[in-house]
Amino acid sequence: MEKFPADAEDGALAYYAHLEARLAGIRERLRRPLSLAEKILFAHWVDRGRLPVPGASTEAFHPDRVAMQDATAQMALLQFMSAGRAEVAVPTTVHCDHLIRARVGAREDLRIAEGTNEEVYAFLASVAAKYGIGFWQPGSGIIHQVVLEHYAFPGGLMIGTDSHTPNAGGLGMLAIGVGGADAVDVLVGMPWELQWPKRIGVRLVGRPSGWTSGKDVILRLAGLLTTSGGTGHIIEYFGPGTASLSATAKATITNMGAELGATTSVFPFDERMAAYLEKTGRARLAARARALAPHLTADAEVTAHPDEAFDRVVTIDLATLEPHVVGPHTPDLARPVSALADDVRAHGYPETLQAALIGSCTNSSYEDIGRAAHVARQARALGMKARIPFLVTPGSEQVRATIERDGLLADLEAIGATVLANACGPCIGQWQREDVAAGTPNSILTSYNRNFPRRNDGNPGTHAFIASPEVVTAYALTGSLSENPLAGIAVDGKIVSLAPPVADELPAAGFVAEAGGYTSPREDGAAVTVQIRADSERLSLLAPFPAPTLEDFQGLPILLKAAGKCTTDHISAAGPWLKYRGHLDRISDNLFMGATNAFADAPGTGFDVVTQEAGVPLARLARAYKARGLGWVAVGDVNYGEGSSREHAAMSPRYLGGRVILVRSFARIHETNLKKQGVLPLTFADPGDYDRLKRDDRVSLPDIRALAPGVPVPVVIRGADGGTWEMRAHHTLTAEQIHWFWAGSALNLMGARARP
Ligand code: F3S
Repeated sequence: MEKFPADAEDGALAYYAHLEARLAGIRERLRRPLSLAEKILFAHWVDRGRLPVPGASTEAFHPDRVAMQDATAQMALLQFMSAGRAEVAVPTTVHCDHLIRARVGAREDLRIAEGTNEEVYAFLASVAAKYGIGFWQPGSGIIHQVVLEHYAFPGGLMIGTDSHTPNAGGLGMLAIGVGGADAVDVLVGMPWELQWPKRIGVRLVGRPSGWTSGKDVILRLAGLLTTSGGTGHIIEYFGPGTASLSATAKATITNMGAELGATTSVFPFDERMAAYLEKTGRARLAARARALAPHLTADAEVTAHPDEAFDRVVTIDLATLEPHVVGPHTPDLARPVSALADDVRAHGYPETLQAALIGSCTNSSYEDIGRAAHVARQARALGMKARIPFLVTPGSEQVRATIERDGLLADLEAIGATVLANACGPCIGQWQREDVAAGTPNSILTSYNRNFPRRNDGNPGTHAFIASPEVVTAYALTGSLSENPLAGIAVDGKIVSLAPPVADELPAAGFVAEAGGYTSPREDGAAVTVQIRADSERLSLLAPFPAPTLEDFQGLPILLKAAGKCTTDHISAAGPWLKYRGHLDRISDNLFMGATNAFADAPGTGFDVVTQEAGVPLARLARAYKARGLGWVAVGDVNYGEGSSREHAAMSPRYLGGRVILVRSFARIHETNLKKQGVLPLTFADPGDYDRLKRDDRVSLPDIRALAPGVPVPVVIRGADGGTWEMRAHHTLTAEQIHWFWAGSALNLMGARARP
């Protein structure tokens, strides 16, 4: 085991050596100013002889790196192993952060996780050693924080098998969350495909002050753009206000661009980024980035005339921006803290807070914890303690050791904080909460990024609100959403005021450098044996999906018609199911558990059109159809598959016989994942056709053999009375993706091409 990855800075410097030349070529062709996002995309673009069309053409890229977390890495690496390569084609890291369950505190929770997940960690470590992958052991940190500290660099392009990979945009990197199957493309050296995104420009002006922080920028933007407002777009920040935010505050903002459905978000290179690079041991990189600054920021003409360069421009004045709280249940339900109490009463949300949680990949920087600790210090001086459980998740061992050394953890613990492991924990449902019975309405406040029902604790009764760490800490002191702590807190009959939080952006004494937990890639892993137990319930090697036939697309029953939101959490629940990530059959028992079916009374159930049985759990129903040789269709509404990048939400439907997913619109990552697994993603040409579909209808695609890029697909519906009607559906498959489809999956095609 080593302290730090030694090779990361060299890789970035090698890329910088060619950056100017790469951009000169494209400037010559385009002869127009470029935004930062365009510069990064073009610098990694595979030129196929025609220029990209934003929002329309699918383009190929060669990313600089891949990062994977332990939950998604299992299936991605199982897929990678099938491709028969000796080592990964680009620098890659695996981070053990998602499988640690939060219960009592860091040390004990980590000890238990190392026991319960031993075979998964052994598998990941052995695959990493065999195939040249850097390995971050459990307790070393959360993927996005570790990437920011060691790998992210201005102007780079990376992909990560996690939705919040865009966190690295805080250091000027274009970092995109993908499914495991996309990661496999890059790991095997194939170009990675992405629809060339459109662009939203967010102009920041003014300087934040008082309680306002970077978090409030993204909470406000979520309220303005909504959870689907960023779909198909890169959000690029510009304007004088960007320089008033630290690199880690920028990372919080780009992290949560995922909540808006954005492909990714990015900030221009500036001195705040250079300072962060220097403090994290990358002074050579900072110096080179300074020299290349014009190539790591948007052209001046773009920022001077943003309406001509971006598809949409939003302006946020940081000087007048108030601290915000969003939620419950969705991050775009935004309002200033000052309006929260009235809103909570008006909607009947539970006013009493049951828990306050800070940290996670989104908000656990030195500055974040410093601001929260400043609030805690004031509270302690006033004789106050947190009135509710107050949990702190450091983002990495490097940050944890540093905030411990500098007394910030002690400040938080002095008002009653419990420090959890440096891992995802309650942010991903890995929270063994024992204070509230399932289904009981209750409220919690976090500084995390996501707040779908069940997201944090698996409890549908939990109302999760989100704010900055300092605001969450202040609410921990009142324990109530209807008491605004920023306006004063009642102590012994008197109202006391807290001063706005102040903290250092970076540790004056530097980060604690011994913080480790890293094993670098082996030079030659040929002799390493990958560890999978024969009787494992957690891991199993993959069998190829069969290639489809014309008959597979005739007379398909509708397994469910999802009403309202159908996120990847609804399709493939996380929480306890994460345990089976590497075992496709086992995890598929969670299929559509959380989905609301327009054809059933209870979520997660459906009607068996063969036996006429109602209320059948959807995974069981899908297995029953499959056992009868019958495929099925799932129907959905808008932004189907929003949420995370987990490919199980595509693999399980495929494994249990799903042929077609027919929706009003898709979330980008999920649509790509369906294509990779050989499920046909279709959208209604007329969105009104969603309403016409009935419980006993059968769906046929008579012309599926003619599937071609850009050509609509005729769909025939036969009702229970035998009558038929026809509609058209659209698809976005490229010629290559149609090859995947007919091969049964992208992986099938990859394996076939790799065979001599
Ligand atoms: Fe983990 Fe939550 Fe971030 S699950 S990677 S801490 S969004």
